[in-house]
Amino acid sequence: MKIELSNNKVFFKKNGSKKEIHPFWLRERVNEERFFDKGTQQRLFDPTELKENIEIKDLNLSDEFLEVSFNDGVKTRLTIQSIIKEFSNINDIKFIKKIKWDSSLNDFNSYNFSENIFEEKIMYEALINFYKFGFVIFKKVPTKNNFIVKFANSIGSIRRTNFGEFFNVKSKPNPNDLAYTSLALAPHTDNPYRNPVPCIQILHCIENEVNGGNSTLVDGYTVTEKLKKDYPDYYKILTNVKVRYQFIDQDVFLEDWAEMIQLDENQNFKQVRFSPRLDFVPLMDKDRLDLYYLARNKVSELFNSDKFRIEFKLMPGDLLLMDNHRLLHGRTSYDANEGNRFLQGCYIDYDSTEGKLKHLKRKFNI
Ligand SMILES: [Fe+2]
Repeated sequence: MKIELSNNKVFFKKNGSKKEIHPFWLRERVNEERFFDKGTQQRLFDPTELKENIEIKDLNLSDEFLEVSFNDGVKTRLTIQSIIKEFSNINDIKFIKKIKWDSSLNDFNSYNFSENIFEEKIMYEALINFYKFGFVIFKKVPTKNNFIVKFANSIGSIRRTNFGEFFNVKSKPNPNDLAYTSLALAPHTDNPYRNPVPCIQILHCIENEVNGGNSTLVDGYTVTEKLKKDYPDYYKILTNVKVRYQFIDQDVFLEDWAEMIQLDENQNFKQVRFSPRLDFVPLMDKDRLDLYYLARNKVSELFNSDKFRIEFKLMPGDLLLMDNHRLLHGRTSYDANEGNRFLQGCYIDYDSTEGKLKHLKRKFNI
């Protein structure tokens, strides 16, 4: 990446291509005190009110700075580094490459909790690993006074739902969700019926005296990439058909339509929604439905296969932070008569983890 000047125009060169930087783009970035508040990094003017046809009058380039004078009398001095930063993805969360994993993963990223962890470098490392693997475990997290709420709000902001600010996972009479029983839960993603679907689930173990009740995780990214490679027709239909996901109880009716495997603008994995108790495929031609059901069976078989699942026991003080758009989670059954099993859960969204990660990156100049 390089900046060049030619005929009162600014160009940037990247990967063999050379493009002009629009004069107005530079004018929007003027950083004199009367135009720019250094503390908030916000403009003190509204660029949509600049009606003049902005042109560059004079330019000067040194190793460190680009100085520009515009035809409306305004001058600015921008660091080359700040311009280059805007053309790189260094601050984009996508710079963290996802690592595919299956049942052979044996190093579960875990970090010991300490009171100041949210402002320490170790939290940056934990969040990087969260984006690489889709989950991270914190150990020795205090188990008193609904600490999960404090934890979530120390990363960002808790995402409240109709289940409340947080929810208690233990078997209870007349449950409105199978989570609140002692039955095994097959791998699934949470709340596919919400718009938007909660990005991250936090589960905090308070008590676990039973023999079963192990937690399970599956990497939806690994599995759907496998499907793409081995069963392209199945992958295609699951990334194309929008399915209705629904949750109802006495107080609420939640519904959203989405592809089971959702792709981003570059046709790469974005999100998986898998909860076979809550999905309703639209009425399509019989042949197409035949294919859809085969595809759903295959992906379900892969999600439930030992080959892709990790299983571990959350102990009191363990706190699991997992990506609900990428991972599937579940648990093995347990006998509620053996003792107490009590987990607390809540949701946060990506703005929390991304905001904290970028803050720590800036703080530690990483
Ligand atoms: Fe769940």
